[in-house]
Amino acid sequence: MEVLIRDTADEVSLLGSQIVAQLLRRKPRCVLGLATGRTPLRLYGELIRLHQTEKLNFSQVVTFNLDEYVGLPPDHPQSYHHYMRENLFRHVNIPLESTHIPDGYSADLRHHCKEYEQAIINAGGIDLQLLGIGSNGHIGFNEPTGSLRSRTWIKILSEKTLRDNASNFSNPDEQPRHVVTMGIGTILEARHCVVLACGSQKSNAVKEMIEGPVSSMCPASALQLHPRVTVIVDTPAAARLDHPEHYRWIEQHKLDWQKYP
Ligand code: F6R
Repeated sequence: MEVLIRDTADEVSLLGSQIVAQLLRRKPRCVLGLATGRTPLRLYGELIRLHQTEKLNFSQVVTFNLDEYVGLPPDHPQSYHHYMRENLFRHVNIPLESTHIPDGYSADLRHHCKEYEQAIINAGGIDLQLLGIGSNGHIGFNEPTGSLRSRTWIKILSEKTLRDNASNFSNPDEQPRHVVTMGIGTILEARHCVVLACGSQKSNAVKEMIEGPVSSMCPASALQLHPRVTVIVDTPAAARLDHPEHYRWIEQHKLDWQKYP
């Protein structure tokens, strides 16, 4: 794992957006895996800015989102369909038919999960998967103790995750307990995983992901088995790491071609 520590959340987002933009410029017809939540908001804002000011081109990009709530219609303000439309898609030149988000409103969820997996394969696999991390170590909505080889499926949210996200729902009865999410096995097949984490509430999960044992108690620790993972964290999220100097040393000694812009 490559671990990049930055002073602020803004610097984390900026670097994340530069990595995505670099891929888009090198491979305009790339397949992006996208995340929702608070963490990638500034990164999406920066991609929109690059589209508007530097003509960053999304016209050939294909996207697959990690997850969606079960039972929320796509136009519900808390649905991830709504989130992606408002925070990225409607501001850049991506054809909507090139974007994919699990359909948590599908009448046949199990069939839909299989179709979603197949659609990723048909697109040639994911080049770059963006990830946030839950305070309990989830990625996508793969909660602790779930299989580390899982595929896209219907999952039950933990009480911790429900509490972490409760403030997004003004009516607590509307907060879904179920989601459709790419599995850990699905995520591990992306060619490059880029994980962003900001804030002290993520420091435990970040430590477990990077320095803990590979364990289903911290699903993100499965990323240790992936050949190419870039973790970008701010100082508060890095606070519990035992070896920050080692990560800085590695970054300082990268060869030119290994460096990000
Ligand atoms: C969202 C997702 C989740 C979030 C995680 C962190 O698509 O897959 O794993 O990345 O819950 O959420 P925030 O960024 O809101 O702290």
